[in-house]
Amino acid sequence: MKDDRIYIFDTTLRDGEQVPGCKLNTEQKVTIARALEELGVDVIEAGFPVSSPGDFKSVVEVSKAVKEPIICGLTRAVDNDIEVAAEALKFAKRARIHTGIGTSDQHIFSKLKTTREDVIKRGIHAVKLARNLVGEVEFYAEDAGRTDNEFLAKVCEEMIKAGATVLNIPDTTGYCLPEEYGAKIEYLMNNVPNIDKAILSTHCHNDLGLATANSITGVKHGARQIECTINGIGERAGNTSLEEVVMIIKKRNDIPYKTRVITEKFQSISHLVSDTMGMLVQPNKAIVGSNAFAHSSGIHQDGVIKDRLNYEIIDPAEVGVNRSEIVLTARSGRAALRFRLEQLGYLLEVEEINKVYKEFLIMADEALEVRDNELHELYKMCKKKEIVG
Ligand code: KIV
Ligand code: ZN
Repeated sequence: MKDDRIYIFDTTLRDGEQVPGCKLNTEQKVTIARALEELGVDVIEAGFPVSSPGDFKSVVEVSKAVKEPIICGLTRAVDNDIEVAAEALKFAKRARIHTGIGTSDQHIFSKLKTTREDVIKRGIHAVKLARNLVGEVEFYAEDAGRTDNEFLAKVCEEMIKAGATVLNIPDTTGYCLPEEYGAKIEYLMNNVPNIDKAILSTHCHNDLGLATANSITGVKHGARQIECTINGIGERAGNTSLEEVVMIIKKRNDIPYKTRVITEKFQSISHLVSDTMGMLVQPNKAIVGSNAFAHSSGIHQDGVIKDRLNYEIIDPAEVGVNRSEIVLTARSGRAALRFRLEQLGYLLEVEEINKVYKEFLIMADEALEVRDNELHELYKMCKKKEIVG
């Protein structure tokens, strides 16, 4: 493992696809998997093979179609799940089984109705079985976010002994605060014997809007893999958004790590996933939302026109967006109006702009946004009124 490398584990096709109404057929999964390979992710979780014949087929086809990333299949700590997953992954160049079991007292007593000892026993059995069938095994301690740290450390120790090389520490319910999640990862780094034989992985859900913050804090405390989805889609409020964590790692000099992801492909893969799944991206979504590079208030527009860096920390081209947008509304100022008119070829004097601006405000108060065709109309009208020469 390279010291400065963060591995990106994409679960758009598994956790992301669990969203109601977002089910994908095999062809769609293969198309997205190919795009993920081009994006440069390290691991693609292609599905949960035992869940349906369709998902089994999808994992088979993704394994055949994709060569560079590791292909991963999810299982419970159940023999049949693991055997079926191994069968589905047989064409993968590098296959990984992702198996696990609940480790919080909530899951152990209320969902599994068993004991801590039994959970460890079942985990060991599952990891050993998987290890005999594929090259790599990742173990997930479901609801690790609410699991007692001392017990979680014991679970991790046993899973490493059984053969797991990646330990996923999911905040399944999205309950942790960043410092709490970071402290959990640090505790495991310091208290699990042989932790250097495995890597810790973050898998954070967004129920309290903290998935990205928790994943990054996990990395700062020792995790080296982040599990995430395109557009942050996933169960309930979603998973960690891939584009957000990758851009944070890329932009922040105080996070001394790298990923292999080609960020210039963000916009196109975001559209692909959104269109294929029929899942709209909220306009104000960081990085890939339609407003992520749109400036509409006068003060901001004036600042961006003078120097983009006044209000933008990301160059739109870095994430595949053509350019920042200066959106004209009734809150826009003269600088923005002049800028947009110039883009349309209308070069006006200061005096003229002042007069046109008055007419513009009347128009803008009526509309949500003044677009190019309305600007042409505005100019024609001003010409008729002899406001412009
Ligand atoms: O959120 C979770 O705990 C999961 C596991 C199955 C990895 O998705
Ligand atoms: Zn999950």
